[in-house]
Amino acid sequence: MLRPRYTSLIALLTLLPLGAAASQTATDRHIDSLLAAMTLEEKLGQLNLLSAGGKASPEQTALVRRGLVGGLFNVIGTENTRAVDRVATTESRLKIPLLFGLDVIHGFRTIFPIPLAEAGTFDPELAEATARAAGREAAAAGINWTYAPMVDIARDPRWGRIAEGSGEDTYLGSLFAAARVRGFQESILATVKHFAAYGAAEGGRDYNSADISPRTLREVYLPPFKAAVDAGVATLMSAFNDIGGVPASGNAWLTDTLLRREWRFNGMVVSDWTSVAELIPHGIAGSREEAGRRALTAGVDMDMQSSIYVETLAPLVQSGRIPMAVVDEAVRRVLRAKARAAALKPVAPNAVEHRALARRAARESIVLLKNDRSLLPLDRATPVIAVIGPLADNQLDPLGPWHTDGKPEDVVTVLQGIKTRVPSGTQVLYAQGAGIEDPSTAGFVEAVAAAQRAKVAILVLGERHDMSGEAASRAYLGLPGVQQQLLEAVAATGTPIVLVLMNGRPLILEWAAEHVPAIVEDWYLGVESGNATAEVLFGEVNPSGRLPVTFPRAMGQIPLYYNHRNTGRPPAADKFTSKYIDAPVTPRYPFGYGLSYTTFAYRDLKLSAARIGPSDSLRITVTVANTGTREGTEVVQLYVRDEVGSVARPVRELKGFRRITLKPGESRPVELRLAARDLAFYGLDMRSAVEAGTFRVFVGPNSMEGLEATFEVAYP
Ligand code: NOJ
Repeated sequence: MLRPRYTSLIALLTLLPLGAAASQTATDRHIDSLLAAMTLEEKLGQLNLLSAGGKASPEQTALVRRGLVGGLFNVIGTENTRAVDRVATTESRLKIPLLFGLDVIHGFRTIFPIPLAEAGTFDPELAEATARAAGREAAAAGINWTYAPMVDIARDPRWGRIAEGSGEDTYLGSLFAAARVRGFQESILATVKHFAAYGAAEGGRDYNSADISPRTLREVYLPPFKAAVDAGVATLMSAFNDIGGVPASGNAWLTDTLLRREWRFNGMVVSDWTSVAELIPHGIAGSREEAGRRALTAGVDMDMQSSIYVETLAPLVQSGRIPMAVVDEAVRRVLRAKARAAALKPVAPNAVEHRALARRAARESIVLLKNDRSLLPLDRATPVIAVIGPLADNQLDPLGPWHTDGKPEDVVTVLQGIKTRVPSGTQVLYAQGAGIEDPSTAGFVEAVAAAQRAKVAILVLGERHDMSGEAASRAYLGLPGVQQQLLEAVAATGTPIVLVLMNGRPLILEWAAEHVPAIVEDWYLGVESGNATAEVLFGEVNPSGRLPVTFPRAMGQIPLYYNHRNTGRPPAADKFTSKYIDAPVTPRYPFGYGLSYTTFAYRDLKLSAARIGPSDSLRITVTVANTGTREGTEVVQLYVRDEVGSVARPVRELKGFRRITLKPGESRPVELRLAARDLAFYGLDMRSAVEAGTFRVFVGPNSMEGLEATFEVAYP
């Protein structure tokens, strides 16, 4: 018989502020007594996570009443979350509250730039602020758990999910991972996903196998997860993919040995959508119960959407094939997550502040890729401006692939942003010209006519929002549909062109890079898209975004990333070196690249020592000058190369950066710190260590330029 003190978990848990060791113990004691009162069915019920369509269905509510559901996701709105939570906390036998999950990825109602765009700000505090705002808005709608941040390193722009992460760099990705965890977890629990190496999908095809070395896994793909764990993330999501034949949702090494024993993560692991059931098509389980056994014993605590744990595992536990201790531990982790969610004190959202934050984030995310003869910024008083393209007056697509509760009517389009900024004497001609993927060229005539009448034509081209994100891999990375032809037709008028791009991944832009004088990369900027873009076009804002990912020149170069190894035959004039016979090996735009309306010069690179010990650190100073005529923000980037190691090291690795704003003519010394331990890597013995030797340092505006110096690491 259930004792009364088990009956109000929610009340008790809300009283226990998390973090203090004493209350942690009290929570654990309480959870243990609750566990002792649970039937096996109820335990498996806590591990069951189901998706709803806005609100819980009658069938789901009935399962909740029977204690067979631990959490629901995609229930939105406090009236809906409260209704079904009331059933859980008053009508189910144990009265355990539910978790309410949702993919709050880059905003809830106020939609911020996509995570990839935001990474290009090189401003993790900004990402923390937008995650905090998103968490507050979601909490106000009854959500207590987001499936974010997505921290998968992505080196392949074919993979649509590149839009959801921080790009190709591990260091940058780790800082953004931790920042977003901190931001969300003010008001809701975060989930770092997709554990692990989901971004290494072969051929960039979503859900595909990853086959990477243990060294690459540890050095490139895992650090952002570790950073999230160290930042206190509550939950992790196991990925869909296999790594070298072992699916991540049934991989005891990943979710137990590494995560729980080595990293000491004591939070909960949730599967991805039916990734437990997918162990069958993966070919490592012959039945649902076998798939469930593999996943649960590997350490995947909550089963998202397969219903396998709750429906099939009881007999396996009863027969001893799954130890009860494994089930208990999983339930404990789920209940701890609930205790943690109950202890959160969400802050009320402030829509006006969030809108202002969305503007700032959008401004800082924009990357100026090209600006020949300073075509930009435009003079607002240009008598006639043509605004052309399927994304120019489009309120849906700037919201990006995950826009949760975002509403198209909240979006300011580029056309609107321009129109509200020009004086009454300026005529703005608009022509859609073409659809995003539509093969019709019927609109070209109007677009060409508008360009002919104008002094400048702004073309807003790119991808539909759902051409990136999940299940949106592309095999061709040009402009979709007939947009390339539209661009060429408008360019043929001779009117100067500004190309504004909206896209969730690097595109291959060879023609534009050769023929279009100005290119602005917007990504998907969210609700403030048009205002931020127009501010940049007219020079109210000087662009400061940098590429968080490499732009290739040709499909055949992919994967192309800045921190590759050198090979034994680095590309050179000689034929028998590592290159293509029909394309360059260099990118179109490198990682870290982005222009400004002013220019910056670097001088006087100095290191505080020529030689350091393994526990020392180095002060690196450089003087950066604004040599142009406008105030501007530069992202000063620090890269390192280990000349000789026990294993081959990347040609460059980002190790630090600093955003600085300089007035015209101003110059300032910038200091960056590099600790010897930041140089550690997995050597021949697969232990992380700092090896003695010579290191090169590069400080500059992107991953291909900069001043250089060297130093030694020496052991005493
Ligand atoms: C599948 C996606 O891979 C994952 O990122 C997401 O959180 C879940 N669906 C839930 O919507």
